[in-house]
Amino acid sequence: MERISKVIASSGYVSRRGADELIKNGKVLVNGEKALLGQKVSNEDIITINGEVLKKSDGNYVYYLLNKPRGVVTTNSDEKGRKTVIDLISTNVRIYPVGRLDYDTTGALLLTNDGNLTNKLIHPKNIIDKTYLAKIKGIVSIPDIYKLKKGVIIDGFKTSPARVKLRKVDKQKDTSLVELTIHEGHNHQVKKMFESLGYDVMKLTRLSFAGLDVKNLKSGEYRELSVKEVKTLYSLVKEK
Ligand code: URA
Repeated sequence: MERISKVIASSGYVSRRGADELIKNGKVLVNGEKALLGQKVSNEDIITINGEVLKKSDGNYVYYLLNKPRGVVTTNSDEKGRKTVIDLISTNVRIYPVGRLDYDTTGALLLTNDGNLTNKLIHPKNIIDKTYLAKIKGIVSIPDIYKLKKGVIIDGFKTSPARVKLRKVDKQKDTSLVELTIHEGHNHQVKKMFESLGYDVMKLTRLSFAGLDVKNLKSGEYRELSVKEVKTLYSLVKEK
């Protein structure tokens, strides 16, 4: 028997806290009856969320690293019928993306059916490095690089210290290339960080996620992670 919120989170549907919210709001049924917070369930119990039967994890996990192209949405299904990152991966298993990249952002994106690992990788308490390369309209000044390093105010909060390098400046084209490593994952965070200093991001690519880079993957290509890589991901989110 396991706590219902753990079973829901393992399936990748939502985090444990998200599961508790659904239970509180009466959206979760166990064998047709409203679930209770902290309720324990067995393998035989049928859980439904918003009327849909929850597909429980069978513990056979798959892990893919995709080099996401532009013009693809990071979700399992898009109400506008646009192509999703799931459409790019050939598998019979129901996988979902770990975090989110914007429609026009390219680069490293992890996809898996391992809900527990997903929830840990996206939980703010775990420091997971995400390295981006941003092409900026204009010449980014050195004082602004320092501001980005120390943290800037976006949406009313200060971003955590980041590693930031000015990679290239093209005075003729009036563009700059900036590499930055952050561990937070707020919506449009990188674009907003630059916007807070008056810069527009022309192109954004994620070079690596949790140390996994996509150097050897062409746009739209993906590969399975090795056992060693999965172990490394687990070591990054281990309770200390
Ligand atoms: N920051 C952004 O602004 N967009 C992304 O897709 C990822 C990080």
